[in-house]
Amino acid sequence: MSEIPAGDADDRHDRFDRLRAEQPVFRDEANRTFILTRMADARAWLNDAAQWRDADRAEPGAYVHAFKPPDMNRPGDRNSGMGWMDEPDHSRVRGPIQLAMSRRVQALAPEVRGIVEAQLAELPAEGFDVLADYALPIPIAVMGRLLGVDTAEVARFRSLSEAALSVFDIGADADARRATKTTSDEIDDLLDEVMARRRAAPADDLISDLLAAQTAGKSLSDSEIRVNCMNLLLGGNVTTADLIATGVDLLLRHPAQLARLRASPALIGAAIEEILRFEPPTNGTQRVASGDVEIGGFPVRQGQVAAVMIAAANRDPTVFPDPHSFDIRRRGASHIAFGGGPHLCIGAALARLEARIAIQALLDRFPGLALADPHAPQRWRPNAAFHGLTSVLVRG
Ligand code: HEM
Repeated sequence: MSEIPAGDADDRHDRFDRLRAEQPVFRDEANRTFILTRMADARAWLNDAAQWRDADRAEPGAYVHAFKPPDMNRPGDRNSGMGWMDEPDHSRVRGPIQLAMSRRVQALAPEVRGIVEAQLAELPAEGFDVLADYALPIPIAVMGRLLGVDTAEVARFRSLSEAALSVFDIGADADARRATKTTSDEIDDLLDEVMARRRAAPADDLISDLLAAQTAGKSLSDSEIRVNCMNLLLGGNVTTADLIATGVDLLLRHPAQLARLRASPALIGAAIEEILRFEPPTNGTQRVASGDVEIGGFPVRQGQVAAVMIAAANRDPTVFPDPHSFDIRRRGASHIAFGGGPHLCIGAALARLEARIAIQALLDRFPGLALADPHAPQRWRPNAAFHGLTSVLVRG
């Protein structure tokens, strides 16, 4: 049986705790992957800029090949996404995108507030699903606004985002893979259209920024702009929505923590960090060894993959006292929900901003917010790479 844990497994933390204590650098032979569960090993591995990210460099049979299937992009686009790039291309492509994003995200709070308010106005106090009716439309609208892509058809972007993420599900069947391919073709066409329009008439958006960087001499191809904008447009939607919905669920299941937050709204930043630590929306991330190395004393050969189990490292008892308790007053060590090193999530600041505004505004709007059925167990979506609830049903 594969040790790469499924997102829906209720007992995954028992397995993680056992692995961390007994086999912290565990070789999962079926998936040709080392599984890292200790925070110290995870951090060191992610921060090591010498290791590779590109799945094409992994040994045959490593599970990471399934995440980068050969036919998923247009032929010339295959290696254009920063998430799969190694140096020197990674810095060349990430640099201008990060610069444009950080400038725009800083100024985005009022826009996010407006989007959140509009979404709140739609919610019936007698009952709604925090995930589908509130959380999911928010990052879709925000990212559309930031990039300059019309995302008014929320349902379409939701299904596109979910199809795009299923590429990271090693359990996905052929139908799911075909749906993902159709999705990426559809978004490629949409982005080509937007790029052509912005080239003719620049607007106040991120796609125009990247086209301007290209004109100013930055080495950034059309394919690199298209693939990375697709990743921005779709990649952060489900993860950010999960952060918001899981966060609300956790707070409602921990009334003392909720009361603390209601009494001291300034704790919202700390609450978001604890939600990210406790139930990170991304289960893991990986690097390919660029040479023969040792991780935590275990030999790893060039081309072998080591995957960091984010959800496990975030509950390492040597770093977080009483790691299985949810406590928004934690101080000290930070989690690795956004990965680390040169590939640290480029959307982290944006996701934090959206979650802070969205969770706070929902609590303010509904002072008596409660789970529709407080006794119903949490149900996680089955996906090995992403971790989110199927729904969070509440009444206002
Ligand atoms: C709570 C929400 C999010 C979580 C938990 C999350 C998590 C992650 C993780 C774990 C990685 C891999 C980092 C590594 O390997 O070290 C990553 C990378 C990435 N994320 Fe996010 N992410 C979130 C939101 C977003 C958003 C909103 C965007 C887009 C605006 C985004 C875009 C990306 C991109 C493009 C990368 C690849 C970066 C690179 O390889 O240089 N993410 N994210």
